[in-house]
Amino acid sequence: MAVVELPITLDRDSPAPFAVQLAAQLRQAILEGTVRAPHHLPSSRRLAADLGVSRGVVVRAYEQLAGEGYLEGHGAGGTRIAVRADVRAPARSDPARPRDEPSRPIIDLTPGRPSDTPFADRSWRTAWREALAEPGHVDLPPALGTSRMRAAVAAHLATARGLNVDAEDVIVTAGTSDALQLIVTALRSRSPTPRVLVEDPGYPTARRVLTAAGARIETLPVGPDGLRAVQLTTVDPVPDAVLITPSHQYPLGGRMPVQERLALLDWAAEHRVLVLEDDYDSEFRHRRMPLPATASLPSQAEVALLGSFSKTLSPWLRCGYLVVRGTSGDLLKETRARLDSPVCGVLQSALAHYIDDGGLARHTARARRAYAHRRTLLLDRLANRPELGLAALEGGLHAVVRLPASVHAEDLAARALTRGVRVAPLAPYYAHRPPQNGLVIGYGAPSDLQLTRGLDILLQLIDTTDPPDGKDRT
Ligand SMILES: Cc1ncc(COP(=O)(O)O)c(C=O)c1O
Repeated sequence: MAVVELPITLDRDSPAPFAVQLAAQLRQAILEGTVRAPHHLPSSRRLAADLGVSRGVVVRAYEQLAGEGYLEGHGAGGTRIAVRADVRAPARSDPARPRDEPSRPIIDLTPGRPSDTPFADRSWRTAWREALAEPGHVDLPPALGTSRMRAAVAAHLATARGLNVDAEDVIVTAGTSDALQLIVTALRSRSPTPRVLVEDPGYPTARRVLTAAGARIETLPVGPDGLRAVQLTTVDPVPDAVLITPSHQYPLGGRMPVQERLALLDWAAEHRVLVLEDDYDSEFRHRRMPLPATASLPSQAEVALLGSFSKTLSPWLRCGYLVVRGTSGDLLKETRARLDSPVCGVLQSALAHYIDDGGLARHTARARRAYAHRRTLLLDRLANRPELGLAALEGGLHAVVRLPASVHAEDLAARALTRGVRVAPLAPYYAHRPPQNGLVIGYGAPSDLQLTRGLDILLQLIDTTDPPDGKDRT
């Protein structure tokens, strides 16, 4: 076991506690690669003796860094540095690799990817064992979802979102994309090519899925606080449905004030427009409490709440839900009954166990802390760069970084890929408006180390961008 010699100097005149100083210097050394796997750190007793501090100081620093994911293992085996091979700088001189081929593995900072920790969670495994141990089912799962799963979703919405939902109003879906297909199929029974109004910029997958399902997309430019109700008065002809992300505009991050939501509901009630509320990441608020869902506001309008386990758990599961009442609720339920459920019965059982046993709530609380920490790392790296505009940081798992005109987002993303970092330019989120020059950065899935390494590479690339070529790219 190779034990690393540490370059640590504690400042006895500093007001910062020794444990904080030690953790900061160790973190820096790990990030810079001065110390790295497979080395072990000295035992807390030895390091404490070397530094002339109490052992508790070293233990606290090690625990802090273990919590942040920089260190792992304790006890007889020693404390290891948890720098995984995938966060090291890609090898620079591999003559066999073409210059434009990305080095492997990639630090993926694209949005829509949550932390994968629930899959390491004991209650997740227990939930699956219990689901698999249920007596064999030989029928199709119920079209609207199993009654246990519908009740579990209602209970989840009560605790996570403060919503009073009747299990009868829940349709279990295979995620938001499936919900959108179901909605368009249902609306087509009323009009052959239903019109759906969407935000611009907005969720490209929603535009694609709605169009593929047979809807005609109309777009409305949205500002920093999302869609403004006054804009709707000019929409002619009136659409069959309007898709909004009022809690965290996707991707720009604004939130629609309650008065605007109420005005939108008045318009929707007057014109009999179905409101589709995509509530995709409300469980993850970092600074402010989430606003109540539009679906919970008093109104005659019909609102379908679209929820997904893609952010709270994983898109790999393909599971979500729709909550809808009234005539539209009946229409959607009838349509689903004609189509059958695409959601696996065992998955529904396992998820229902996981929700009922509190596993999802515990995982969400843990993930919220991890995301809040990574959001802080992102702010540490980017907030002191006045040329970069940061947005969408109030909640969720992604941030928007606006770039100066001299740094073209697509060029930057392509250069980043050759350095092993994948990021998404902002442009594809725009449908018809000239896009802003920027990136959407997902911080859900990468480890702290991957995130800081990825951001450092992006900053280096921004700093080494050639002088402006005169084109205004904002
Ligand atoms: C705006 C938005 N809505 C919904 C979802 C969830 O979609 P699905 O449930 O189809 O995975 C995502 C996931 O990335 C999203 O970004």
